[in-house]
Amino acid sequence: MALKAVILAAGQGTRMHSSLPKVLHPLAGRPLLSHVVATARALEPAGVQVVYGHGGAEVRQRLGDLPVAWVEQDQQLGTGHAVAQALADIDAQDTVLVLYGDVPLIQTATLQRLLAAFDGADLALLTVRLDDPTGYGRILRTGPDQRVAAIVEERDASDAQRSIREVHTGILAARGEPLRRWVRALDNRNRRGEYYLTDIVGLAVQDGRSVTTVVAEDPVEVQGVNDRTQLAQLERHWQLGEARRLMAAGATLLDPTRIDVRGQLEVGRDVLIDVNVVFEGTVRLGDGVYVGPFCLIRDTVIGAGTRVESHTTIDRAHVGRGARVGPYTRIRPGTRLSDNVHVGNFVELKQSDVGDGSKINHLSYIGDCLVGAQVNIGAGTITCNYDGAHKHQTIIGDNAFIGSHTQLVAPVTVHAGATIGAGTTITADAPAGKLTLGRAPQQTVEGWKRPAKHPKDCIT
Ligand code: UD1
Ligand code: CA
Repeated sequence: MALKAVILAAGQGTRMHSSLPKVLHPLAGRPLLSHVVATARALEPAGVQVVYGHGGAEVRQRLGDLPVAWVEQDQQLGTGHAVAQALADIDAQDTVLVLYGDVPLIQTATLQRLLAAFDGADLALLTVRLDDPTGYGRILRTGPDQRVAAIVEERDASDAQRSIREVHTGILAARGEPLRRWVRALDNRNRRGEYYLTDIVGLAVQDGRSVTTVVAEDPVEVQGVNDRTQLAQLERHWQLGEARRLMAAGATLLDPTRIDVRGQLEVGRDVLIDVNVVFEGTVRLGDGVYVGPFCLIRDTVIGAGTRVESHTTIDRAHVGRGARVGPYTRIRPGTRLSDNVHVGNFVELKQSDVGDGSKINHLSYIGDCLVGAQVNIGAGTITCNYDGAHKHQTIIGDNAFIGSHTQLVAPVTVHAGATIGAGTTITADAPAGKLTLGRAPQQTVEGWKRPAKHPKDCIT
């Protein structure tokens, strides 16, 4: 009586016109197939088999650590042939749930409904009513009680059958034993010359078995991805769902149609997110955080009350409370900003720690640097952290003041309270509490004249 999920994912996806196997195309930043596997696993099945084929090596390489059993289908001879590849691991009493790797938005609750209806039967189909059923297998019903008689594929259907709006989603549940028998009895005498899994319905009816149906309420849930337009439609649908979830959690989105969440985004209360912000990986925004337009934030935690101004990229970083970052800041992996730090326009930070209340407001590169608290780093300061072979660290103590256009040639330390004069190249440690300067003294050259152009008529 164990539940075994079989996910069909061997199709080529011709209409994607892509060198990437279809099931690897991302939806909300994750391959289509990962969505289906996650939904299947939520049902706590005894096993999940993925039938793969086209681009198989790449699929297994990219998704190799998914908790599934991989079954190869050498040649794509049809959905019935695909299921046949998975039969070795299916016992007579198992409940087999067939899912499609390119139907990513199917919900666990809908599958639970299908399984509940299946209970005790031999075959249950998930169907859906569509205004435009083109391309789908139609559900044929007969008799006064409108029992399911068969599924007829679009290409094999008569005009009258094509007008039927109830279609098969492809998703079904079947008992292990009759399924094995039916699948083995399939033939490929149809327009596509394929072994259609859907023909098991006719076989079940011939066997006198009852075929149950459950109608999916939301057509988007059972929509397949065949081309990039459908992929984009499902992406927008997913993103709108994320937007609603964030708003329900207390965030204001200035336009819920212009946000992209490709991972897990957690928000506190009164978070405000302006338009066209992309979140990737795991991101947490504390209470009252503001994110301006056109930002990219990936795998980052941002503390309460912090403002991220427009056009800022923050990647695998930690930003404290009450900080101000941007506009036009780039924060690279391994950076930690403490509370009340200010980082301004055209500043790049990499693998650096910046202490409480420090300011790096304009046009600087700070890499591999430990910056203390209450430090002021002037415009155009550069840490020269790379000697062509290795990276070196710069340490700047609390309360230091780095004048504008300073180069800090690492490894080097500027001690607490030191002041560095503008335009200095620091190559040795600067002592605490003192002014260090490294620039040539200013001079005025008496009697110097700026060269002037010769008048044209003087050229000989
Ligand atoms: C199938 C159903 C159709 C249903 C529709 C819903 C059949 C014969 N028809 O049609 O009734 O309305 O889905 O979307 O099943 N696959 C394999 N190996 C193969 C062939 C297909 O793994 O040899 C996989 C594909 O990767 C895909 C799924 O099975 O995920 C469906 O295959 P596809 O060829 O797209 O079937 P449809 O013609 O859409
Ligand atoms: Ca399809």
